[in-house]
Amino acid sequence: MYDSMPSVAPLTLASGVRARDAWPLDPEIIHLNHGSFGAVPTEVVQLQNALREQADLSPVGWFPRIAERVAQARAEVAPFLGVDADDAAFVPNASAAATVVYNSLHLEAGDEILVTDHGYGAVTMGAARLARRFGAVVRAVHLPLLAEEDEVVESFRAAFGSRTRLIVVDQVTSPTARRLPTRRITELARERGIRVLVDGAHAPGLIADAALHGGGDWWFGNMHKWPCAPRGSALLVTTDADRQELWPLIDSWGAPEPFPGRFDTQGTIDATTYLSTPAAIAFIEREYGWSRTRAAMSVLADEGAARIAAAMQPYVSEDARVLLPMPVDSMRLIRLPDGLGKTREEADALRMALFDLAGVETAFTSFEGHGYFRLSVHLYTESSDFDAFIERCVPEILRRASVTTAASRTP
Ligand SMILES: Cc1ncc(COP(=O)(O)O)c(C=O)c1O
Repeated sequence: MYDSMPSVAPLTLASGVRARDAWPLDPEIIHLNHGSFGAVPTEVVQLQNALREQADLSPVGWFPRIAERVAQARAEVAPFLGVDADDAAFVPNASAAATVVYNSLHLEAGDEILVTDHGYGAVTMGAARLARRFGAVVRAVHLPLLAEEDEVVESFRAAFGSRTRLIVVDQVTSPTARRLPTRRITELARERGIRVLVDGAHAPGLIADAALHGGGDWWFGNMHKWPCAPRGSALLVTTDADRQELWPLIDSWGAPEPFPGRFDTQGTIDATTYLSTPAAIAFIEREYGWSRTRAAMSVLADEGAARIAAAMQPYVSEDARVLLPMPVDSMRLIRLPDGLGKTREEADALRMALFDLAGVETAFTSFEGHGYFRLSVHLYTESSDFDAFIERCVPEILRRASVTTAASRTP
């Protein structure tokens, strides 16, 4: 069945350019991990370089006026997320947004923060540090990989306790590449006076009006993932009554300003990532259209997942192709042979081994002691990339799996 799947022709942009040629990605390397660090189109790289050049040509002409330009970029980016520019602050990345929110909170000893077992490790560690500061506790809600939307909401309802104060939950999960119903969870939490931080790191570009649909008392998302902005561009969005408690990680001249204006000045930093973000959004819209891009990613991801799962299937005890509820358009999970990538550390080590040995950029994740290949595609992905993964990576994965299996049989 999988083999009969037609391969998708390389995508062509409105300007007539083959999509692959619009990104400066190394042609010697196979790129199947957009999700971790994004990839910036050449046109946007050039714009950012030109902006940096302006700063170098005339620092005084550049830096004293930077706040106005960052505010203008916010005004252009906020509608893409379905929100008002007055509710959105630029921060360098999703991790920074979580830190800003954690820094603003006061808990009591014995209070509880709920996270999930699909959460992003660094953001969950931040929640643990917040809890330690106040003698509070962090509890992880278990959500089965294949939990349907209602089951996820009910798991939260069942998990709420009398001391639950904060929920940290992902709109699109990192290890399991699926959506969670964060808006419904927010509505449920509000009935109980519990506040919700929505980690929408992967949501911009993948979900139209991502912040609007994400819910949360606070929401954040990365522009350097699916929207293809230069790295170091994320938005923290909130209409929360306490939002004047939010401060940028760098105390600077914006301090007298209310949220979000105070985030527009961050000392002498390179704000060209923020200033180039509207151009990245516009590039995809002009060259392919955002909704068409999501549809194309879905077709490509299905093809890749089917092909790669078929190659792996004889060595995997369950269905290698994981059919997730609430999937996203651009990512798929393919189950690894038993014993491989059981922990995050092992999964990360496999990623670097395949990069070094096979020249393939991948993401491997682990969930409940099982390893997965998290396939990412974007407009520049081509069917030949899946063939390359099958030729270069699958034999090495199987070799490692047989070594692992043999080792686990050793008494
Ligand atoms: C769900 C999630 N949250 C947070 C982050 C952190 O993003 P950043 O490294 O840009 O801060 C990531 C990164 O992949 C993520 O997937």
